[in-house]
Amino acid sequence: MFVDVVVQWRIWATLLLLWMTKFLAAGSSWPCPQRCDCYKEVLEVNCSGRLLMTVPEGFPSSVQLLNLSRNRLKTLSRRQFSGLAHLWELDLSDNLLSMIEVEAFQGLQNLHTLRIRRNRLKIITVGVFSGLSSLRKLDISGNEILVFLDFTFHELSSLQWLEGGENDLVFISPQAFVGLHSLQELNLDRCNLTSIPTEALSQLQALVRLRLRRLNISVLPNYSFRRLSRLRSLTISHCPWLDTLASNSLLGLNLTSLTISHSNLTTVPYTPIHHLVYLRYLDLSYNPITTVHANLLGDLLRLQEFHLVGGSLVRIEPGAFRGLTHLRLLNISSNQLTTLEESVFHSVGNLETLRLDVNPLACDCRLLWVVRRRLRLDFDGRQPSCASPYKVQGREFRDFTETALPSLFTCRPARILNRKPQEARVEEGHTVHFYCKADGDPSPSISWLTPQLGAISSTGRIRILSNGTLEVRYAQVQDSGTYLCVASNAAGNDSFAVGLHVRGFSSRNRSSPFYPGGWIVPSALPAANISAQDPKAFPFDAKTMIIAVTMGFLSFLSSVAICFVFMFFWSQSKGQIKHTATIDFVPRTSMGTGGGGSDRAETGRFTMKLI
Ligand SMILES: *[C@@H]1O[C@H](CO)[C@@H](O)[C@H](O)[C@H]1NC(C)=O
Ligand SMILES: *[C@@H]1O[C@H](CO)[C@@H](O)[C@H](O)[C@H]1NC(C)=O
Ligand SMILES: *[C@@H]1O[C@H](CO)[C@@H](O)[C@H](O)[C@H]1NC(C)=O
Ligand SMILES: *[C@@H]1O[C@H](CO)[C@@H](O)[C@H](O)[C@H]1NC(C)=O
Ligand SMILES: *[C@@H]1O[C@H](CO)[C@@H](O)[C@H](O)[C@H]1NC(C)=O
Ligand SMILES: *[C@@H]1O[C@H](CO)[C@@H](O)[C@H](O)[C@H]1NC(C)=O
Ligand SMILES: *[C@@H]1O[C@H](CO)[C@@H](O)[C@H](O)[C@H]1NC(C)=O
Ligand SMILES: *[C@@H]1O[C@H](CO)[C@@H](O)[C@H](O)[C@H]1NC(C)=O
Ligand SMILES: *[C@@H]1O[C@H](CO)[C@@H](O)[C@H](O)[C@H]1NC(C)=O
Ligand SMILES: *[C@@H]1O[C@H](CO)[C@@H](O)[C@H](O)[C@H]1NC(C)=O
Ligand SMILES: *[C@@H]1O[C@H](CO)[C@@H](O)[C@H](O)[C@H]1NC(C)=O
Ligand SMILES: *[C@@H]1O[C@H](CO)[C@@H](O)[C@H](O)[C@H]1NC(C)=O
Repeated sequence: MFVDVVVQWRIWATLLLLWMTKFLAAGSSWPCPQRCDCYKEVLEVNCSGRLLMTVPEGFPSSVQLLNLSRNRLKTLSRRQFSGLAHLWELDLSDNLLSMIEVEAFQGLQNLHTLRIRRNRLKIITVGVFSGLSSLRKLDISGNEILVFLDFTFHELSSLQWLEGGENDLVFISPQAFVGLHSLQELNLDRCNLTSIPTEALSQLQALVRLRLRRLNISVLPNYSFRRLSRLRSLTISHCPWLDTLASNSLLGLNLTSLTISHSNLTTVPYTPIHHLVYLRYLDLSYNPITTVHANLLGDLLRLQEFHLVGGSLVRIEPGAFRGLTHLRLLNISSNQLTTLEESVFHSVGNLETLRLDVNPLACDCRLLWVVRRRLRLDFDGRQPSCASPYKVQGREFRDFTETALPSLFTCRPARILNRKPQEARVEEGHTVHFYCKADGDPSPSISWLTPQLGAISSTGRIRILSNGTLEVRYAQVQDSGTYLCVASNAAGNDSFAVGLHVRGFSSRNRSSPFYPGGWIVPSALPAANISAQDPKAFPFDAKTMIIAVTMGFLSFLSSVAICFVFMFFWSQSKGQIKHTATIDFVPRTSMGTGGGGSDRAETGRFTMKLI
């Protein structure tokens, strides 16, 4: 019975509503301010571009979209739009607004979107946005706002999207974002901020996407983004001074997408990002990064896309993407790469998209895996092309036929050229060079191993020179042994052993201990360039030894002499001091009968003369 009544009432109400809508639509009673166009069907009023100096009166109360953009409005007064309870979207962009009174939007309790783009606002007073309890989107970009004051947005508890870019913002007050409980996306662009507003951002606990562009920052300090546990996407771009990410700068974040582009990073920020195990998208494009190092990205186990476009990449080391089993897109176009080896990847089977164009690619065996997959891989419409060797210069990968491949994408294994034996026997302290030159295609890299099979670097006493020569300076006895030169390229390795025998001073030929001009080197093999003839290479040669010993002796003598002189003057200067010392003693009574001691026994003292 009761349900029946409700249903009947509903039907009547619906019919009434239909009729009213029809009447409103048909009749001409929908009020429309002069100079505006009103569209009843879509509940829209267009007052855009009508040279309005003030907000017109008499809008239909059911209007949902009011477009007041491109006029000359200067101020909005209190309760300016009261009565438009159904208004859904209000566009005030491209006016001359410099002043919005508090509670200007009071009464717009259904407003979802408010656009105040490109006006002349310098400040937003606390209370301007009061009453906008349903607001979801707010655009205040392109004004001249200098600071966001505390509690500016505190009544916008439904706001999800805030566009605050292109202001002159120099400061965001720590409490500015208080109350934005629902904010999911915040964009700050072209601000004059010189640091990340960490404190203010930490209020935004629902934030999912944060975009910071054109900030004048050079360092991202530790813990820049605290308490943003819901943040999934962070974009920092166009910060030409940004060159450092502190090692804990991104700690506390759990991102799935990270972009740091158009900045001044010179290395991939391995440490700051290594905890982002849910990261799927990483974009470091347009940074002067030269190398992606081996085995340092393995923690990003869910990474699917890696972009480093327009960088300065010359090398991606084998193993760079080891552990990244989900990597399916690699976008490294416009770099300085000559190759991309298959061993870079965990497994190339998962790779779907590869942008490798605009790189000076050397089409040899290292790129054979790419060209073999050229029909399966998605090059995103940009075919890679060869820069060398000469016979295929400029040719795109899709131009090669299957039959031509084995003869084109070839390598020559590394081969060490001069295999003349090199044995050096030297005295301790000499400098020795061992040569190693190799050819191959691609040109091989040369490394040396110590007798203990340790790697030798390009610095230190024992080092590799840039031309592959091994240099042992001030040879020590313990340097003796067999050194191994290893030349390697993608097609193969070659190695070559040399010997070094260093004799210490104790075992030298004692029949000629101090040969003028340095030690004699018994065997200087032609292959080993032993700088024995150059006495300067040996820091402790005979001359030096003699000089050192002489100097040492001389300095000893002179110290003794100085000491004596000093003592003499000291004793002379103390003129008043007695030059004798009188020592009293108690004679032993038992000695009284003694012979020689009896004469001094009475006095009990004797006198010594001092210098
Ligand atoms: C609103 O009016 C302006 C100026 O007459 C016009 O350029 C614009 O296209 C109109 N917008 C709509 C949605 O009709
Ligand atoms: C208001 O009108 C302008 C054209 O004059 C248009 O570009 C703008 O998108 C309109 N705003 C809305 C919210 O439709
Ligand atoms: C902000 O930076 C712009 C240039 O990017 C400059 O013109 C403007 O004067 C700066 N504003 C302040 C307040 O520093
Ligand atoms: C940005 O900061 C650098 C120093 O870090 C300064 O030299 C430069 O003038 C600043 N640029 C602007 C537009 O404020
Ligand atoms: C960041 O934190 C790490 C580890 O606590 C510390 O080693 C480093 O010096 C800090 N960097 C800065 C710029 O404070
Ligand atoms: C970027 O860094 C390099 C040194 O790493 C420096 O020479 C250059 O001035 C920096 N660029 C800017 C815009 O700060
Ligand atoms: C991190 O984000 C992922 C994906 O959004 C989510 O599954 C995971 O639970 C989050 N982890 C933590 C600790 O919040
Ligand atoms: C690769 O990067 C460029 C530049 O950022 C972009 O235009 C292109 O869409 C990217 N390609 C893919 C497949 O993501
Ligand atoms: C290698 O370079 C060093 C100096 O860098 C030079 O002394 C040596 O002669 C060079 N050796 C060869 C074989 O070119
Ligand atoms: C060359 O040597 C490296 C180790 O130095 C080894 O990993 C690689 O498999 C070798 N390559 C060939 C073709 O023998
Ligand atoms: C020591 O030197 C003499 C010549 O001065 C030479 O005859 C002799 O063979 C040398 N002995 C050794 C062990 O080198
Ligand atoms: C040995 O080194 C000297 C310079 O110390 C150099 O002038 C000479 O050419 C080198 N000899 C050989 C065979 O490379």
